Amino acid sequence: MKALVLSGGSGTRLRPFSYSMPKQLIPIANKPVLEHVLENIRDLGIVDVGVIVGDLGPQIAEVMGDGSRLGLRIAYIQQSEPLGLAHCVRLAQPFLGADDFVMYLGDNMLPDGIADMDRTFRTERSAAHLAVHKVPDPRMFGVAELDDARRVRRVVEKPRQPLSDLALIGVYFFTPAIHRAVDAITPSTRGELEITDAIQWLISNGHDVTASEYTGYWKDTGRTDDVLDCNRRQLEQIRSDTAGEVDAASVLAGQVIVEAGARVIRSRVDGPVVIGAGTVIEDSHIGPGTSIGRECAVHDTVVTDSIVLDGASIRGVPGLRGSLIGRGATIGVGRPGDTHHRLVVGDHTRIVVAA
Ligand code: G1P
Repeated sequence: MKALVLSGGSGTRLRPFSYSMPKQLIPIANKPVLEHVLENIRDLGIVDVGVIVGDLGPQIAEVMGDGSRLGLRIAYIQQSEPLGLAHCVRLAQPFLGADDFVMYLGDNMLPDGIADMDRTFRTERSAAHLAVHKVPDPRMFGVAELDDARRVRRVVEKPRQPLSDLALIGVYFFTPAIHRAVDAITPSTRGELEITDAIQWLISNGHDVTASEYTGYWKDTGRTDDVLDCNRRQLEQIRSDTAGEVDAASVLAGQVIVEAGARVIRSRVDGPVVIGAGTVIEDSHIGPGTSIGRECAVHDTVVTDSIVLDGASIRGVPGLRGSLIGRGATIGVGRPGDTHHRLVVGDHTRIVVAA
């Protein structure tokens, strides 16, 4: 059994971050979403993983390498244009050969794991076995209609009038039967080869397609608010570990990780919080649900429920909340007497100031 992880795509909903970094590298509790995905795959005993990457692929290869750090063997497969999930399966045919595989969208978080679904697939070996999850608004997703025996009768991509509330959540188990299906379909109205069309082809051609309902926490980390929600949820699982330095004038409360080489000076940290290696927190208050990356500088600042990416610097900002701060970003106060805000803001950035 192999795995195929999709980490191409343009990530338009995560601009401006996705202009310069693959959305799959957005950190959740200081670990890229993609690493959480690969750990779930490793936990199934799978070793060979094909990772589909787009233009920003070299950054993914730099972080994940050959996979040996996680006990995996990663083969990178380049997709020059985001032409759909079924297009990724076509591209990966030489890598997948005649093996069964799990296809996993590299920006979907299923922290409760996919072991049960994997077991069901390996036992029953239907042509496709789909992870589905009840969602309040299925119109934004692929939707599966099931019969009483968990057989999938129909799948529809982003239906206007969904006939079920079970969304496809980015994890699909396939036998090699899927290859004939992806070769048979044509692009959808959005110009993509849809995996839902390939799955529907299997159903229409008499193959068995089944589903398992995943009842744990699930997020497609495609939007800022989902990323922050997921971060908050992951931080609830951490256990305190202070490898870095915390001076006598600082107070840590709740679960707080201070990574090696980080320094906390005259500050208060209310967990759950993780502070990355090499970061300095000085005269500041870090509130619950905050992940601060590596080599950051945070001075005279109050920040809570936020993610700060590597190398960012924040000075003199008394009330940051629900914020996602990009790599190497600088936020600070002006000189005494300055009466204006001065912003140098990238394309499609969103700024909300206090009322
Ligand atoms: C894709 C799939 C959709 C699935 C969703 C899960 O949608 O096409 O069937 O429900 O991922 O995140 P997209 O993110 O491309 O809109």
